Amino acid sequence: MKIVEVRHPLIQHKLGLMRRAGVSTKDFRELATEVAALLTYEATKDLETAEETIQGWAGPLQVHRIKGKKITIVPILRAGLGMLPGVLDMIPSAKVSVVGVQRDEATLQPVAYYEKLSGRMDQRIALIVDPMLATAGTLIAAVDMLKAAGCTRIKGLFLVAAPEGLARIEAAHPDIEIYTASVDERLNEQGYILPGLGDAGDKIFGTK
Ligand code: PRP
Ligand code: URA
Repeated sequence: MKIVEVRHPLIQHKLGLMRRAGVSTKDFRELATEVAALLTYEATKDLETAEETIQGWAGPLQVHRIKGKKITIVPILRAGLGMLPGVLDMIPSAKVSVVGVQRDEATLQPVAYYEKLSGRMDQRIALIVDPMLATAGTLIAAVDMLKAAGCTRIKGLFLVAAPEGLARIEAAHPDIEIYTASVDERLNEQGYILPGLGDAGDKIFGTK
C-alpha cells in the first residue's frame, strides 16, 4: 500500500500549531483547511494531463489540462467536513460524496449512518478526507461503501495517522493510497492517537 507522510515544512509547522493545548476553534479550523489544501497538492501529483492547443495573447500555444477520471471528495462526517474547504480550494469543481461513519466511543466499532454519493462512482477518483486515522475502523467502513458503489481508485487524506490503523487498512484494503501530515506514535487505551490532536471533531466544531 502507498503511504505518504508529507513532511513539508509548511505542513509540519501548521500541524505543530494545531497540537497546542487550548488551541482556539478558529485557529484549529483555519489550520485544518490549510493543511488539507497542502495534502491535496501532494495527493494529486499523479493526475493525468493532456495537451491541448489554445489561443494565447501572442498566438496559439500548447497547454496542459487534467484529463481522465474526475474527482469526488469524500468527507467522513463529522470531522471530515473540517478538511473539505481546503480540498475544494484546490479542486473547486469537484463533486462531493458525503458519508457518515461514527465510531462507538465504548467499543470503538464504526457505525455507518449516512451515504450520499456522486453519480458514476466507477469513473471517479475518490479523495476521502478525515482528520484522524486511529484504529482505521471508520476508514475501512468508508472504503467498503465506496467499493460497493463501484469506485476503484481511492486515496485518503488525514492530518494524523496511527501505526496501528495503517497496518489494519493495509491488511483490509492494500489498493488504496494514504496521505498524512504525520504518522504518530501509537493509540492509547481509549483509541486516541498519541500525541495526536485530541478529539478533532470537537475542536473543529467547538463542542464539549
Ligand atoms: C473520529 C475521526 C475519524 C474516526 C477515527 O470521528 O474523525 O472519523 O474518529 O477513528 P478510527 O480510525 O478508530 O475509526 P468520530 O467517530 O469521533 O466522529 P466525529 O467525526 O463525529 O467527531
Ligand atoms: N478520533 C479523534 O478525534 N481523535 C483521535 O485521536 C482518535 C479518533
